[in-house]
Amino acid sequence: MGGIAGIVLAAGTGKRMNSDLPKVLHEVAGRPLVAHVLAAFEPLPLGDRVVVCSERLDDIEACCATAGFAEGVSFVVQEEARGTADALRMGLTRLGRVPETVLVMNGATPLVKTETLSALLSMHRDRGAAATLLTAELGNPTAYGRIVRGFGDEVEKIVEERDATELERSITEVNAGVYVFNYAKLERLVGEVDKANAQGEYYITDIIGMLRSAGDQVVALGTDADEIRGVKSRAHLAEVGELMRARIADTWMSEGVTIVDPRTTYIDATVTIARDALIRPFSFLEGATSIGRRAEVGPQARVMNSVLGDDSVVSFAVVRDSELGPRTSVGPFASLRQGTKLGSGAHLGSFVETKNTTVGENSKVPHLSYLGDAEIGRGVNVGAGSITGNWDGRGKHRTVIEDDVYISSNTTMVAPVRIGKGAATGAGAVVRQDVPPEALAVGVPARMIEGKGNKMAKEA
Ligand code: UD1
Repeated sequence: MGGIAGIVLAAGTGKRMNSDLPKVLHEVAGRPLVAHVLAAFEPLPLGDRVVVCSERLDDIEACCATAGFAEGVSFVVQEEARGTADALRMGLTRLGRVPETVLVMNGATPLVKTETLSALLSMHRDRGAAATLLTAELGNPTAYGRIVRGFGDEVEKIVEERDATELERSITEVNAGVYVFNYAKLERLVGEVDKANAQGEYYITDIIGMLRSAGDQVVALGTDADEIRGVKSRAHLAEVGELMRARIADTWMSEGVTIVDPRTTYIDATVTIARDALIRPFSFLEGATSIGRRAEVGPQARVMNSVLGDDSVVSFAVVRDSELGPRTSVGPFASLRQGTKLGSGAHLGSFVETKNTTVGENSKVPHLSYLGDAEIGRGVNVGAGSITGNWDGRGKHRTVIEDDVYISSNTTMVAPVRIGKGAATGAGAVVRQDVPPEALAVGVPARMIEGKGNKMAKEA
């Protein structure tokens, strides 16, 4: 026996979300709500961690795993949403070893910080309380449980909005839905909670009044109003998202990143940004993205699950599932799709689309190209309007362009095809067969002129 267990209540119906998706799987800053709670738990010295789920347990577990927070966490179903005390009771059944203390948290309050949870646990221990709650003063406390205090700083009970008297409704201190309990006392009382209330549900909040009636001590830690915001509707989701974005931007600015306009910059909780990077307005950094030192992103860039190397520049572009080496530049108006890899110093310019394509060191694709399933060597220049024909109506084929090749404007490379080192194409060539190294391919379909390849590379 001993230690602290963590339980997340995530089985509610979330009716006001009006959604097919469980409420706790709605995302803010690129992470499901419940994963934000597990992320806040992560640095704490918790033993067992349990998430109480609706019948969509598999989806909830899978989303937590994708977000990287399922390891060491048990997931248990509360078959019917009979209330938060019933959910907690289910959670307790899943604890592997008997803890001394239980930290319980609603699954849809993603802004609560680890430091606050830590302070709550310390207060609970220092005061030797039976229960310790997190509360905040709200200008508009509607929909939250109100904290009824007695004399001194003890909490007498929590009254839910729908069960409150007019006087109780005027209380502005609210329950955040974050509790620390003495396990032995909780375990004894949780099964005794009844559902004699306006919603006919088993309320976790009733346990507070029950503890007080038994003469136990209940104390509360007050925190910032914004931190305890819970999501009950789509409007709340947007509000919480805005607060989360501001917090993320503040964190990166304090880490030495310039964010020109945080209000129009959307950085997921999953992104990392190195010092002295510069993020311009209307930029979206999403998923498993990392931005290198002194990189410049935006204005108007959407970067998803991608790595941008040091000193890279991306503006007015969409970059998805790609890796950009150091000193690369992309845009304006480029679309990099999955599997694009740029070697150091490579450049993709205006109206260039790539997919599953590697562009070697210092190669340039400055204008109006589509490169799909292509491997492009070093020092290659791809002229305006040139494309790879990678799809023949039946399957995808690869184009290989070796080092120091010069592709003139409007070349069509019909894959599978290989263009040898130092070769060149003439303007408008349709290349349907391999081009030997150093040769020049001209015409439709292209014919080969041996030894007349990339003069520019030879002169360089
Ligand atoms: C609850 C509190 C309220 C507090 C508010 C803070 C109760 C009775 N009231 O309100 O005092 O101010 O949170 O946001 O607890 N859940 C289950 N199973 C259920 C019902 C709910 O797992 O049967 C989960 C939900 O997924 C959610 C959490 O418990 O994550 C809280 O439920 P929610 O409906 O959001 O809160 P309220 O009950 O309105």
